[in-house]
Amino acid sequence: MPTARSTPNIALIKYWGNRNDELRLCAADSISMTLDGPYVDVTVDHAERFALTSTTKQLTEKERARFAKTLELIKRYLATIDLADALPASLAIEIDSHIPQSIGLASSSAVFSAFAKAIAELIENSYGTAGRKPALGKLDGHSALTDEQISVMARLGSGSAARSIFGGYGAIRNLPGDGIGDAIGYQIAPETHWRLHDIIIVPSTEEKKVGSTEGHGKAGTSPHFLDRIAAIPRRIEECTDAILTKDFEKLQHVAEEDSMDMHHCMQTQNPPLNYLSTETMRIVREVESLRKAEHLPVLCTMDAGPTVHLFCEEEARERVLAYAKAQTKCALFEAKTGTGAQIVSW
Ligand code: DP6
Repeated sequence: MPTARSTPNIALIKYWGNRNDELRLCAADSISMTLDGPYVDVTVDHAERFALTSTTKQLTEKERARFAKTLELIKRYLATIDLADALPASLAIEIDSHIPQSIGLASSSAVFSAFAKAIAELIENSYGTAGRKPALGKLDGHSALTDEQISVMARLGSGSAARSIFGGYGAIRNLPGDGIGDAIGYQIAPETHWRLHDIIIVPSTEEKKVGSTEGHGKAGTSPHFLDRIAAIPRRIEECTDAILTKDFEKLQHVAEEDSMDMHHCMQTQNPPLNYLSTETMRIVREVESLRKAEHLPVLCTMDAGPTVHLFCEEEARERVLAYAKAQTKCALFEAKTGTGAQIVSW
């Protein structure tokens, strides 16, 4: 019974909108940084009938249906890489989440990347030890599915989860086709390349009314959507270059431009989605003033919620943390660049 551990990632160039909602084929490429915490453990085991349990919460029917659908899609994907019979009839899945509800971090990227990683380990082990033959030589003895293939399985549960398969700076690249495997994750640089801090300020811990899945489905209704898609390749290039050369100022410009652009798209889609609160915008303005006044390497980015992520270099950490602590009405959490999904036990 493999257990995989994974963590959320925070996008620097955001994924918003799909070219195929069912298959979660992203409308454009994206880039993120994988965090070193908080984490989720997911254990999978062979089972005749689908079973999903959580050690920390009562699961809803919607959550069960999402996992069952993800498993169905994963089987569909495995068939396309000659691994149609790699999984048993069904799976027993246990989720052990250590992501506090109060920090406003979406856990789906952590959960579905851990799920995919655990499934890959189960497949590899069944083929390696149970005396079954590798299907058409794709799993040659003990060799694993590639990280790209595991990222596709993660993406089928939650688009952004494809990036948490990788440590450091992960990304999603769209391939030309419209097949189930035609958006893959890859790594731009590992966590050892450039450690950044993410100081997370949470103005509100209220459950969001509209989740990302629903929001992605309406992204195309924004009159701004096509302009956004057209701008992404340039931003991907700039962001990749900023990461590879550790150019924080370049990263700040492109990440802040893209974050506000995604929120503009969200706010102009039908029905509009406004995730940014007045508190969010106050913090963004204050951080901008702080950066200018004190020449601090710090940037602001927001995903699908009012939570502000303050990415900064080591030299700015103490000052940014002091600012964050002064926001007495907000919850606070701190993370840094992490390792991505890992197998933690068998
Ligand atoms: C705003 O990956 O959460 O955080 O595939 O429906 O689970 P689902 O969507 P999800 O979308 C992420 C949206 C975002 C931007 C990003 O992480 O790139």
